[in-house]
Amino acid sequence: MNTEIAGDPAAWWRHAVIYEVYPRSFADGNGDGDGDLAGLRAHLGYLADLGVDGLWVAPWYPSPMADGGYDVSDFCGIHPMFGTLDDADALIADAHAVGLKVIVDMVANHTSDEHPWFEAARGAGPGSPERDRYIFADGRGARGALPPNNWISAFGGPAWTRLPDGQWYLHLFAPEQPDLNWSNPHVLADFDDVLRFWFDRGIDGLRIDAAPAFIKQPGLPDADYGDDPRFTTVKWVGNPHWDVEGVHDLFRRWRALADTYPDGRIFVAEAIVNSAERLLRYVRPDELHTAFNFHFLKAGWDAVRLRGVIDDTLAGFLPAGVPPTWVLGSHDDVRLVSRFGKATTWSQHVADGADELPDLDLGTRRARAATLLMLALPGGAYIYQGDELGLPNVDDLPDGVLQDPFFRRTGGAIRGRDGCRVPMPWSGDAPPFGFSPAGGQPWLPIPEAWAGRTVERQAQDPNSMLALCRAALRQRRLLPLTETQDLTWRTSPEGVLDFDRSPHFRCVANISAEPLALGVDAQVLLSSAPVIGGMLPVDAVAWLSHPARAPQGR
Ligand code: NOJ
Repeated sequence: MNTEIAGDPAAWWRHAVIYEVYPRSFADGNGDGDGDLAGLRAHLGYLADLGVDGLWVAPWYPSPMADGGYDVSDFCGIHPMFGTLDDADALIADAHAVGLKVIVDMVANHTSDEHPWFEAARGAGPGSPERDRYIFADGRGARGALPPNNWISAFGGPAWTRLPDGQWYLHLFAPEQPDLNWSNPHVLADFDDVLRFWFDRGIDGLRIDAAPAFIKQPGLPDADYGDDPRFTTVKWVGNPHWDVEGVHDLFRRWRALADTYPDGRIFVAEAIVNSAERLLRYVRPDELHTAFNFHFLKAGWDAVRLRGVIDDTLAGFLPAGVPPTWVLGSHDDVRLVSRFGKATTWSQHVADGADELPDLDLGTRRARAATLLMLALPGGAYIYQGDELGLPNVDDLPDGVLQDPFFRRTGGAIRGRDGCRVPMPWSGDAPPFGFSPAGGQPWLPIPEAWAGRTVERQAQDPNSMLALCRAALRQRRLLPLTETQDLTWRTSPEGVLDFDRSPHFRCVANISAEPLALGVDAQVLLSSAPVIGGMLPVDAVAWLSHPARAPQGR
C-alpha cells in the first residue's frame, strides 16, 4: 500500500481517471450546432455517474478555430461559441459540487495569428520588440526567398511562412499558429499571469499542449528527417525543434508557481517523445506532475508491444515515484474501435492505416478488452469522450465539412482528425440524437447508424460498452487498484498478459489466437466478453477476484 498518498486529497491526480471533453462536440445547450459550456454543465451528472474523477476540457478560449481551438487569440477568455467566463465559473463550481476535478488545456507553444501580440508583431517590422515575442528569421538564398531552415510543420509543408516585408515566421503547426519565443521575458511574465488567472478561478490543473515544442535549438539548425517527410515526434532524440533540453527550465518555473497554491494545482504534459525515458524527464519532482502516455495508445492491440510499453513505463516511473498514466484515445487519434478493427492496430501517425476499412465488431471487442486492461494498470487513465460508447471513427464525412488543417495542408491527402470529433449521440432514434435541441444542425453530421450507440440506448443495455465502462470504474474504486502501484506479472502463454495487482486482484488479457483456460477456480469480477466454462475468449480481458491457478494451456 502506498501510504504516502493514502488519504491525501491533494494526491487525487495520482490515480485519477480523467474524461476528455472536446467541448464543440460534447453537448450543444443553445441549439446553434456547436457544443458549449451550458451543454457540458447539463451533462455533468452523466460524467459523475460514469465514475470518472475529473474532466479535461480541450481549448475553450476565443479562437478563429484554424486548428479546432488550438489557435488561441485570448488566453484569458471564453470563445463566444462556448459561452462566457461566468459560464466557466459556473461549470467549475458545478463540477466540484458533484466531485469532479476540472483540468483545462493551456496552448502556449503558439498563439493564433489573430492574437493581438502577433498582429502587433506583423505590423512592427523586423528587429522590433513585438517581433521578438515570436520566432522571426530572414530567409536563405537570393533575397532570402527560401525558408530559414528545412523544418516541417506537423500538419505538412514547411514550418515557415513569409510576410510581405520579407521576413519569415516559424509555426510548427499551421501558419495560423505562430510559435512564441520562450526566451523572451515578456512572454514568460505574461504567461505567469495567465496561469494565475485560471488557477485563481478554481481550476484544478492545466494540460500543457505540445510541451516538447516550446524551446528550439539555438541557431535554428536544419533537422535530419531522414527518409520520412512527416513530422513524427516519437521518431528520434536530437530534433532541433522538439524535446530540446531548455523546455525543462520553463516547466520548473511553472511548477514553482503552481506550488504557491496550498490546495495543490497540477500540470499534465502532452509530450509525445521518443521513449518512456524521455517522457520521464517532464515529470521530475520539480517539473510537471504527470504526462499522457501515448506509447500505450500507439502500441495497438499487440501483446508484445503492450507488454513492452507497460514494462518500460513502470520501470521508469515507479522508482521515480511518479504515477504512470494510460491513454487509448484522444481528439487527435483515429477512434479506438476503428483502429483496433484493422490489420495493423499500432500507429505512429494519424494517417497510418487510413486506406484500410475497419471491422467494427472486431474493433469493438478489442476496444472493450483494452479499456479493461487500461483501467487495471497502476496510476491514472484518460478516456476520450465517446470511447465509453464505442463510437467508431467517421471516415466518410463529406470533404466540404472537414476543418482539420491536416486536410487543407496536405491538399486532401490526409483527411485529418474530424472523424474522431463527430458530436456525441445522447438520445433518440435520429440525428442529432439529443446533441442539439430539436432543429439544431451539428457542426459535423452524426451518422444515422449511431442510433444504436446513444447514451440512452446503452444505459438500458447491461452488455453495452457504456455499462462495461461504468462497471469497471465502479470496481476500480472498490478494489485496491487506486491504493497500490504494484503489478506482478504471472507466467503466461504467448499472446497473453496476466498480472496481479494485489493478492486479491488479477487481470488477464487474451491477445492470442485461441481461447484461454483461466482455471476452474477463477472468480470473474468483470470481463469484456462472456467467460463460459472458465474459458476467456480471444480478444478479451477478465478481472479476477483472486489469483486463480495459472492458465492451464490450450
Ligand atoms: C496537440 C493537440 O492535441 C492538437 O489537437 C493540436 O493540433 C496540436 N497540439 C497543436 O496545438
